[in-house]
Amino acid sequence: MNIQGFASRHSFRRFLLTFVLLIVFPLAARNSIARPQGTGPAPRKVIIDTDPGTDDAMAILLALNSPELDVQAITVVPGNVTAERGLDNALRLVSLAGRCDIPVAHGAEHPLNQKLVTAEFWHGRNGLANIELPPSKCTADPRFGPDLIIETIHKHPHEITLVPVGPETNIALAVSKDPSIVPLVRDVVVMGGSISGGNVNASAEANIFGDPEAAQIVFNAGWPITMVGLDVGNKTLVTRAHIAQLERTHGPENDFVVGVLKFLIDLSEKYGAPGVQMYDPLAVGTAIDPAIVTTEAMRVDVETRGQFTRGETVANRTNTVERNVPHDGRLWIEAVDPVTPNAKVAVDVNAERFISMFLGRIAGK
Ligand code: BDR
Ligand code: CA
Repeated sequence: MNIQGFASRHSFRRFLLTFVLLIVFPLAARNSIARPQGTGPAPRKVIIDTDPGTDDAMAILLALNSPELDVQAITVVPGNVTAERGLDNALRLVSLAGRCDIPVAHGAEHPLNQKLVTAEFWHGRNGLANIELPPSKCTADPRFGPDLIIETIHKHPHEITLVPVGPETNIALAVSKDPSIVPLVRDVVVMGGSISGGNVNASAEANIFGDPEAAQIVFNAGWPITMVGLDVGNKTLVTRAHIAQLERTHGPENDFVVGVLKFLIDLSEKYGAPGVQMYDPLAVGTAIDPAIVTTEAMRVDVETRGQFTRGETVANRTNTVERNVPHDGRLWIEAVDPVTPNAKVAVDVNAERFISMFLGRIAGK
């Protein structure tokens, strides 16, 4: 702009005022409106490792509808269903959510050291409550799941939260192949285990029972790990009233979740639970908002040999162990040694807040 063009000081001042009012002020205002988004916490980058699975399906849809999370990849592990079925289910789910941009990769075909146990009994013939979702418009990523996990962690050092919600085979394979990922992972939020008895049998929870050797590797890898187990999952009960609430809104994901919940509540009631336990969605909920659970630091190991306890998460609640030394033909307690906790174990949950978050994220989608 040529200032000479302004004949007098007066008109120059008027020009300045107009410039400020019309250009500078609206720009500043726009930036200050945009700033809250810019300065808020960046979405947490997560990889969901899953065996979909009814509650896995709801967990995936919760993650995809939560702005706090940036789903970098979904890797599929056999568990509730076979690896092949799980991959197809995962692809149908991302397609339902219109998220073909998310890499979905196959992983292990079977657990590290035992036969695969599948759970169509609880999840329906197809693993998705017998609901036939439309064939997927998305295609599988050709990479092997554990390799994709390794690659993504190296691409985003210190940023990735791993959320395994099935047996931990893929995560164990990844960390065994490339232990350098351990210090590069932000944290791990596992759905699995229990400190008060199992759902497969008296001692073991299904995901840990599905691959105890893998779980022992994951719990002892040395990364920050939060165990969201049965104890808290059993407190997050979706009731018929919640389902009725979700039935009032519609959308492909909304209606699918209603169908899944109806299938699950019939089963839950048949086996004595007053609602649907939201195991896998709660692990995602914990990644969204860690304060949704209360945790205690404990030393957790996985029993791999017990006659009645294979697959049990053995949690040391006092983080101490007695030191026994030989004395006079017997063992004598000489001291109590501290043990270092390796996990934060969820011991309580704000179930109401979690369920309303879940319903709110799915409603109308
Ligand atoms: C876990 O086992 C599976 O059946 C569910 O998907 C969940 O991950 C609960 O024990
Ligand atoms: Ca699962």
